This record gives sequence, C-alpha cells and structure tokens, in this order.
Amino acid sequence: MSITNPHKIDTAKLDSILESYGSKKSNLIAILQKVQEEYRYLPEDALIYIGTKIEGLSPATVFGVATFYAQFSLDPKGKYEIKVCDGTACHVRGSMPVLNAIKSYLKLKDGQMTTDDGLFSLETVSCLGACGLAPVCVINEKVYPQMTSDAIKVILETLLNGER
Ligand code: FES
Repeated sequence: MSITNPHKIDTAKLDSILESYGSKKSNLIAILQKVQEEYRYLPEDALIYIGTKIEGLSPATVFGVATFYAQFSLDPKGKYEIKVCDGTACHVRGSMPVLNAIKSYLKLKDGQMTTDDGLFSLETVSCLGACGLAPVCVINEKVYPQMTSDAIKVILETLLNGER
C-alpha cells in the first residue's frame, strides 16, 4: 500500500510522535490519540504511514483499530465540534429546528459535516444524559442547554467573531 497523498500529512510530525512512543505496537492506541489531537481526526494517509512504520503492524491493522474505537474519527473535524443531541427528549423539544438553523447558518450542504474553512463540524448524537435541559447542544465539551434556533445563531456568530 502506498501513501496516496503525502502532502496532506506531516511525516516529520508523525515520526516524532512515533518516536516518543518508541514506535511500539503496544502503544498504538496512545499514538493514534496523539495523532488525532494534532489533526483533530485521523487522516487516512497518517494511518497508512503509521502502519508501515511500526514493526509487526500493517496499514490494514491500524485502520481496523482506528475504526473499532468510537473515540477515533476518520472524518475531518472542525476547530469547533458541534454536537446536537437528537435523543427522544431533545427531539421532542425541538432539536431538529436547531440542527437546521446550524446547517443553514454555516451553509452546510446535505451530507457535509465540516465547513469548507475547517472551523465548524456538525453531528447529531444520541442522549447526552441531560434530558432535563433539552434540547441540548455541545460545542467542544461545553454544554448549551435549552437551545433555540435563535440562540444557537448568536452563539455561532460569537464564535465566528472571535476568529476574525
Ligand atoms: S435526549 Fe438529549 S440529553 Fe437526553
């Protein structure tokens, strides 16, 4: 297997992560966590690279491990990771209008998870265990209770202004 697009990843950065964990097979999870911390997701080329650099592993094994654990994402994430709860309580109390308001504000097309500038990514999640606060959104671990379409737009606008 070859590296399909080496320009997408910084092999020097990956080498230094690999070295810091002794390039050991037993440290694969920790290595993947560190790579995800760097890129905010696990780029395909990084997984292939790691699979060719660690003795006793193959790119296919590294892919298998990365896709097995829910903590790893193979899709690019934005700087701001927005999660909209669509569990029953949140759904009943209006999570879909909030989700649609986010999609429209961020101009996300159908099926598009991350904005073109890489700032925001959006996903729906099941019950976050805070049903009393429904509908709930989480942005980078911060919980936003009782969301409305208008409130979420203000929050997004504030985050965007902070980037300008
Ligand atoms: S359904 Fe959304 S927090 Fe429980």
